[in-house]
Amino acid sequence: MTDDRPVEQYANESNLSTRGSFNQRFSTREGHPHDWAFGFVRDALPGDADVLELGCGTGSIWRRNADRTPPGWTATLTDFSQGMVQAARGNLAGVDRTFDYATAAAAAIPVRDGAADAVLANMMLYHVPDRDVAFREINRILRPDGYLFAMTVTRDSKATLYGMLDEAATGEGSVESLNREFTLSDGGAELREHFDSVESHRFESPLSVTDADALVEYARTLPDHPRLAPFDESDLPALRRIAQRRLEDGPIRMRSDLGLFVARR
Ligand SMILES: C[S@@+](CC[C@H](N)C(=O)[O-])C[C@H]1O[C@@H](n2cnc3c(N)ncnc32)[C@H](O)[C@@H]1O
Repeated sequence: MTDDRPVEQYANESNLSTRGSFNQRFSTREGHPHDWAFGFVRDALPGDADVLELGCGTGSIWRRNADRTPPGWTATLTDFSQGMVQAARGNLAGVDRTFDYATAAAAAIPVRDGAADAVLANMMLYHVPDRDVAFREINRILRPDGYLFAMTVTRDSKATLYGMLDEAATGEGSVESLNREFTLSDGGAELREHFDSVESHRFESPLSVTDADALVEYARTLPDHPRLAPFDESDLPALRRIAQRRLEDGPIRMRSDLGLFVARR
């Protein structure tokens, strides 16, 4: 959990890009989760919608779906990390569409009441310390009948990896999964306190990992978090050995499923 200030983890796009590339490289299913989620957004909204994204990261969903974005939409990309807003701006510079950008935290969105038809909040609400405040902000800026689209983790995503980190860890205590807040299993109950209707959808993503070094690089990008504390950088060589040993028996299989909530005022 973070507070409402940008964290080192997201100072720039490096960690996020490494993890995204890992997931894409070893996924055994067709399609990218951002394209899957974008389909729900596009199907729900009219051709002249105003869309605001919270925690836009690298701007990936827009870059990947520029061709599927109706020309009448406005899109405002926000993130509390200035480095991420810069990264998104750079990544979308060559895209033949206009985007607006702002550095903003989910708890204080610099937009007037009722300005948006939809808010996207992908893979970020589990970082927000006081989600009630964020949900009130989202509702404030949404028009009546507006939508919140929120991708999130599943509880068992990368359980195999967390198990390997635990095996490699030399610190005290056990490594636990980071996927414990606002997951696909429990986020719906929180949303129902703020929205009239809430649907959830699952994106199944089995990974088949064949490269110990890539797994180590993924582990290197993980945040400083109390649930990971028994594992630190000095345990990376042990993690590599554990991965290499497992790979002798074939690819390391792990689930990396995601979810999407579609909530409506
Ligand atoms: C895991 S990344 C997801 C990025 C992007 N939405 C995606 O799906 O690829 C989380 C992003 O949310 C941002 N973030 C985290 N907490 C935030 C908050 N309270 N307000 C605004 N942005 C936040 C981070 O800076 C980071 O860019």
